[in-house]
Amino acid sequence: MIAIYPGSFDPITLGHLDLIERSSILFEKVIVAVLKNPHKQPFFTVEKRVQQIKKCTQNIKNVEVDSFTGLTIEYAKMKQAGVLLRGLRVMSDFEQELQMAHINKTLEPNIETIFLATNTELSFISSSVVKEIAKLGGAIDHLVTSDIAKDLFSAMNGG
Ligand code: PNS
Repeated sequence: MIAIYPGSFDPITLGHLDLIERSSILFEKVIVAVLKNPHKQPFFTVEKRVQQIKKCTQNIKNVEVDSFTGLTIEYAKMKQAGVLLRGLRVMSDFEQELQMAHINKTLEPNIETIFLATNTELSFISSSVVKEIAKLGGAIDHLVTSDIAKDLFSAMNGG
């Protein structure tokens, strides 16, 4: 079965990566799908995020990286996926995620949303926190891969 792991991934964190690794064992193929969101001003371009994710998942054979616009469920149908995958870090994620799962189910009853609990040790990580710490000059090596830390550092320093 094909699973779609949709998100902003701005940037991908070690929490996301852990989820990708674990889900790649459960599914035939996992497509990490970066949303091109016209309403959000991202830190990294979609192209850059796709490239970043490709690099850190290159050793996982059944993982593909792509980007999409519009509804996630339509993208999932187009890819003939059976599952939408989302990570749950804390209880406060649950409310919004459950609503999204219900809405997606009304749009396409044949595609299930499956939640994976984020690794306990990584459950405090979010892309926004990573960006904030990086902006303020703090260490982020325990939150993202070294490539992403470099990208953030160079972007923060105007390059
Ligand atoms: O990483 P994020 O920002 O938490 O991901 C949220 C995402 C991209 C999964 C969600 O916003 C989404 O699916 N957006 C696409 C539009 C859509 O399908 N909306 C209907 C579900 S409410």
